[in-house]
Amino acid sequence: MNALVAYFSATGTTALAAKTLANAVGAPLYEIKPAVPYSSADLDWMNQRSRSSVEMKDKHSRPALADTTAPVAHCDVIFLGFPVWWYVAPTIVNTFLEAYDFTGKTIVLYATSGGSGLGKSADGLSISAPGAKIVDGRLLNGHFSEAELKAWVDGLHLG
Ligand SMILES: Cc1cc2nc3c(=O)[nH]c(=O)nc-3n(C[C@H](O)[C@H](O)[C@H](O)COP(=O)(O)O)c2cc1C
Repeated sequence: MNALVAYFSATGTTALAAKTLANAVGAPLYEIKPAVPYSSADLDWMNQRSRSSVEMKDKHSRPALADTTAPVAHCDVIFLGFPVWWYVAPTIVNTFLEAYDFTGKTIVLYATSGGSGLGKSADGLSISAPGAKIVDGRLLNGHFSEAELKAWVDGLHLG
């Protein structure tokens, strides 16, 4: 399996899960970085006018990326991680998917959250990666060992 572990993380939680996953599968790690990082004010979900609230209310919003250097072309399987925002993936994950060609590739979702599941994340992302197979993976809330994550990935039979 030629894999890449990509992730977006605004406050570091998903980043930790992504690092363990990359070690577990022996794959390179790629951080999806926004051109303009999210400040804590941007992330205030109590404020309807905060950047994250405004972006997440508009499912067509596509926050700009800092770079488009992910080695996607070399991979068959992309593990794609993000924090759950308003029950789905942040729209910058759509920006990431639309920046590359994922045709024929398998995208396995993983996420961290305050408790919500992946919900309709896959539906919101599939429009941005036509031709890819999206696997509705799992939440990685809490601590996972590399062995646990390897067992999960082995169970997906990705080839
Ligand atoms: C704007 C925003 C919206 C969020 N919406 C949800 C949500 O709908 N359900 C949930 O369980 N957690 C929600 N959270 C909490 C994050 O999913 C959780 O803290 C996540 O682990 C953060 O990951 P990160 O540190 O990688 O950014 C939200 C956080 C933010 C900033």
